[in-house]
Amino acid sequence: MFVSLEGPDGVGKTTQAALLAERLRAEGCEVVQCREPGGTELGERARALLLDPAVTMGDRAEALLFAAARAELTQEVIAPALDRGAWIVCDRFIDSSLVYQGLGRGLGVEPIRDVSLFATGGILPARTLVLHGVDRRDDEPDRMEAAGANFHARVAEGFLELVALAPDRVRLVDARGGESEVAARIWAALEGLQP
Ligand code: TYD
Repeated sequence: MFVSLEGPDGVGKTTQAALLAERLRAEGCEVVQCREPGGTELGERARALLLDPAVTMGDRAEALLFAAARAELTQEVIAPALDRGAWIVCDRFIDSSLVYQGLGRGLGVEPIRDVSLFATGGILPARTLVLHGVDRRDDEPDRMEAAGANFHARVAEGFLELVALAPDRVRLVDARGGESEVAARIWAALEGLQP
């Protein structure tokens, strides 16, 4: 079963991905945790380039690099894990590209979806949980985080629009409150898929 966690920077996805993986393991499931961009040699190197504030990059090159990292992660990690029946909990996936590159950069949702589906060979999460409602960013901004307030406002709004784009797959999860409260909401949003 393939699940992705999404949301704006600093919404607490990474903590929640770890808690979800822990819960699934406690239920006896094999869980593969991954993050995007990253999770492979190519993906981690692409990540270093993508987040480095010293690297100048056009919007299209940025979109294609994210897609290349996704292609590699899907081929090396996600597809084999799906084949053996494992759970995959991925911190960001295709929807981050739809929102950050499609809406934030203004490249358009349709072309970015096409590029991303080409990258994954059509593989999509069974469910995508979009966390929203808080901003816990506290570290030095990376290249994406430094993209400006208007960009991040478009991103935050874009995440809320995702449900309308893919209502069968995407669920909004309120990320306000304590970690275990949010974890319980995430578990509830997996309704129908839980082991
Ligand atoms: P990361 O440190 O993983 O951010 P976070 O901890 O908030 O998840 O950095 C990933 C950054 O890259 C983040 O700003 C979102 C952005 N991103 C895109 O713009 N497009 C994408 O397709 C993906 C996967 C991430």
